[in-house]
Amino acid sequence: MKTLEDLNLEREKVLVRVDFNVSLNEKGEILGDERIRMVLPTIDHLMEKGAKITLVSHLGRPKKREGRLSLAPVAKRLAEMSGYEVALFDIVSSTNVLLGRYNRRGRERGTLILLENLRFSEGEEKNDSDFVQMLAKFGRMFVQDAFSSCHKKHASIVGLPRILPSCSGLLMEKEVEKLSGVIKDPKRPFVVIMGGKKVDTKARAIESLLEIADELLVGELIGKEIKENGIFLKHPEKLVAPVDSVNGRDLGPQTIEIFKKKIRSAGTVFWNGPVGEFEKDSYCLGTKEIAKAVASSGYSVAGGGETMEAIKSLGLLNEIDHVSTGGGATLEFLGRNGDLPGIWALRNSPSHNFGIE
Ligand code: 3PG
Repeated sequence: MKTLEDLNLEREKVLVRVDFNVSLNEKGEILGDERIRMVLPTIDHLMEKGAKITLVSHLGRPKKREGRLSLAPVAKRLAEMSGYEVALFDIVSSTNVLLGRYNRRGRERGTLILLENLRFSEGEEKNDSDFVQMLAKFGRMFVQDAFSSCHKKHASIVGLPRILPSCSGLLMEKEVEKLSGVIKDPKRPFVVIMGGKKVDTKARAIESLLEIADELLVGELIGKEIKENGIFLKHPEKLVAPVDSVNGRDLGPQTIEIFKKKIRSAGTVFWNGPVGEFEKDSYCLGTKEIAKAVASSGYSVAGGGETMEAIKSLGLLNEIDHVSTGGGATLEFLGRNGDLPGIWALRNSPSHNFGIE
């Protein structure tokens, strides 16, 4: 995978795929801005090179334009956090109008252009070639910094690297490096904590992690799903299920103690998903205690939007070696031995695009 150092980005027009899929409350206010904060180093790096940046992202899962899923609040927060002027452009209306506006305002130094939610156009999810070509007009080079979306075969993930010289951004590079460390050579014992719910979406990752982990501790909700659905797992001997609970919605005190002991003596810990209903005060103790134990263990990596927010609310973000921005992408990365469509696309971006013979 090429990195920012491999492309000559000096004063270039650069298209950057980021993941600004942040959670919003009912009023449309941003609840957590970590995904914005984490791409700032890439933006700064490119700005220092005098690059003219156009950022693209999705937000939510709209099938067509939905006002409440506009990236407008993100553009505002990005301007506050980055200190750059941010111009939000709508690509769905008309390419000509768009390019005219783009040329007038976007060339000013210090201005970041953010295109409106990619999923307002069906071309994004369909990886439609006309849509890819249209996006490609915004950059002569492509930087992928949306690791957390790289499990999707969408236009901005697999389409753009096919036609533009492409490399990974700093966040993408860090995610791949840290998560590869977990699957390639984990320090033992390697303990995995799998929380959240919807076991079916995590089954492949659970199976793969059971192959390499020494123990897999499951949260209250996911443990219940495995039991109730009679899910068969290879290496059941490595599975550690809760022995008690709080109304079936959080780990009970005995389980918390067992889990904490295992986590604290681990060489490597990977944690995905709250172990109870963290958002409710009466059922958040298990997740809090697990977060503290993970922070005090050997090498620790956590992933997933809710996990990240839980860690952040406890002030433990800097205590954990790597907190991945990815939820589904992180699990797929671990479950597929580091192979994601977006990573494959970057690795196979045609070399003639780099001027390399
Ligand atoms: C995520 O939040 O995991 C990513 O932004 C991907 O979102 P998606 O599951 O809607 O593709």
